[in-house]
Amino acid sequence: MSLRSRSLLRRSCLSVPGSSERFIAKARDIAADMTFLDLEDSVAPSEKVAARAKVAGAIAAGGWDDRVLCVRVNAWDTALTFRDILEVVTGAGERLDEIMLPKVQSAAEVVATDLLLKQVEREAGLELGHIGLEVQIETTTGLINVEEICMASPRIETVVFGPADFAASMEMPVLTGGVEVPEYPGDHFHYVFSKILMAARAAGIQVIDGPYLKIADLEGLRSYAKRSAMLGYDGKWAIHPTQVEVLNDVYRPTQELFDKACDLLDAYAVATSDDARGAVMFGDEMIDEASRKMAMKFQARGEKAGMLRTPRG
Ligand code: GLV
Ligand code: MG
Repeated sequence: MSLRSRSLLRRSCLSVPGSSERFIAKARDIAADMTFLDLEDSVAPSEKVAARAKVAGAIAAGGWDDRVLCVRVNAWDTALTFRDILEVVTGAGERLDEIMLPKVQSAAEVVATDLLLKQVEREAGLELGHIGLEVQIETTTGLINVEEICMASPRIETVVFGPADFAASMEMPVLTGGVEVPEYPGDHFHYVFSKILMAARAAGIQVIDGPYLKIADLEGLRSYAKRSAMLGYDGKWAIHPTQVEVLNDVYRPTQELFDKACDLLDAYAVATSDDARGAVMFGDEMIDEASRKMAMKFQARGEKAGMLRTPRG
């Protein structure tokens, strides 16, 4: 288990094509919480083999501050996964936190990756369990098996929804994945978001929303990202640097809610200790132990994002 990155923030997860040395160099200066260098769908088939060394070399060369650093390999239904993992993990060295596995269909694929990583870590001289895993759910079979997948290895740090591949797998009548479908009354992905979220929380891992493909539409991104943020997702992919700032803002509590959570925790602490009561009034609402749990999560999330309580005037 990659202990370093497991609980780090992942509000914005920047996707960078592993075939482009220029984009990789630029990515070091973009303030994403997490960055992944891609060997999968943003890389042309003819460039995939050469991209392995570029990605490994860029990670070994350093300059990535303390963000989560990941490489997305190709899926197990290609002929590339084994060599992607071998070359990247042995070439990148200690700074690589995670491997992202796309189009995961079953827990067996995760177990196979875990076993392969054990041997590769030994070969690379890394501590056993150093490399964490991000698993992408983006097929119908993957969604059906999501609970087992999320529990399949202690290496798993996050589960990631892939709306574009998922729309293709579902044969949805859309040509852009991960955006609103105004003709549908409601959110066409609500069930999917909720199912993945529950599987993630039951497994104690983070949960990430995938790309928003209309890169020039930052207001559309903000509005769409709020859906998964309001459900409790930890972050979302950025497929262009301009998306990062919006996501860092959307996936953290508002100042008002952060302050309220801190006030609630204070009030509840006094009620339970000084007054020996389990439920008390807080403003116009009744709060109890469940309220404390909700507020604790909020406070922790805000503090990780560097938020400070507003001083009382
Ligand atoms: C991401 O990989 C997606 O398919 O949406
Ligand atoms: Mg995909």
